[in-house]
Amino acid sequence: MARKKLAMIGSGMIGGTLAHLAAMKELGDVVLFDIADGLPQGKALDLSQAGPVEGFDAKLKGTSDYADIAGADVCIVTAGVPRKDGMSRDDLLGINLKVMKAVGEGIKQHAPNAFVICITNPLDAMVWALREFSGLPHNMVVGMAGVLDSARFRHFLADEFNVSVEDVTAFVLGGHGDTMVPVVQYSTVAGIPVPDLVEMGWTTQDKIDAIVKRTRGGGGEIVKLLGNGSAFYAPATSAIAMAESFLKDKKRVLPAAAHLTGQYGVDDLYVGVPVVIGEGGVERIVEIKLDAEAKQGFQVSVDAVKELLDACKELDGSLA
Ligand code: APR
Repeated sequence: MARKKLAMIGSGMIGGTLAHLAAMKELGDVVLFDIADGLPQGKALDLSQAGPVEGFDAKLKGTSDYADIAGADVCIVTAGVPRKDGMSRDDLLGINLKVMKAVGEGIKQHAPNAFVICITNPLDAMVWALREFSGLPHNMVVGMAGVLDSARFRHFLADEFNVSVEDVTAFVLGGHGDTMVPVVQYSTVAGIPVPDLVEMGWTTQDKIDAIVKRTRGGGGEIVKLLGNGSAFYAPATSAIAMAESFLKDKKRVLPAAAHLTGQYGVDDLYVGVPVVIGEGGVERIVEIKLDAEAKQGFQVSVDAVKELLDACKELDGSLA
């Protein structure tokens, strides 16, 4: 059986880490694409030389030619400009929208059967635009945000409770921005919901509120610390988890920016919700019952995503 093929569109900090993880896990051969001359070729060669030491067999190729992504099973898109300190995700809109147009057309022409995972920010708007420009089926185009935001939430909760991260589950829904909704009601330690743990005296509501706030600002905290660029290890790992669920038909239940057609009262928007990812791409959208507070937070988040889409449509008439 031929190896699977993964194309990383954008070979910067996240793109390089994606290629490293994909090769280490032997998910398939990897194409690193970028417009920056030499960067994808250099990273591909460097990573190939890690192969003999790690013992992974994967062919890695760097390129600036879309023809090389032909036949890709998975495309992970990080092409664009990352957020700098003091810049909101939304400031990136104009620049990255043009990048999505080029990438969408490249995928449409060369890898129309791929499962496409978008990471470029502002995420919910970019994944929607990428889907429009590529014309791929909605279930085959998805945005990575929820796995990362939930991982941040899980990390902070595990730290607070001093338990293994493996036993902490958490859901962060809504848009990938300051309005995201960490859903405390569905976050658990070994199945015990966080509100019960507050009652059991494991923590206080104030501490949970602080963790929710820190999760919402999780990306910005790292941008500030790095001083130049944004997070890349955890975003890359999160997207690889989604790619793996597709390639191995694992049918994992993961929060992701998915195209809604009436679920949660939302139509034709990409917003973070729990989904099942398998060989059919986004095979199912899970509609969970939200309490009043989460519902209200979700609506605020949806409105913020809507505003971004309106801005996109104004910037590019073909999207209107
Ligand atoms: N086509 C292909 N690649 C492009 C294009 C394009 N039109 N425009 C820019 N790029 C490349 C850049 O040359 C760069 O190598 O995209 C890469 C982006 O890499 P980084 O700047 O290192 O950014 P990274 O940290 O990987 O983040 C990428 O993910 O989380 C989001 O906000 C983040 O939107 C950003 C994206």
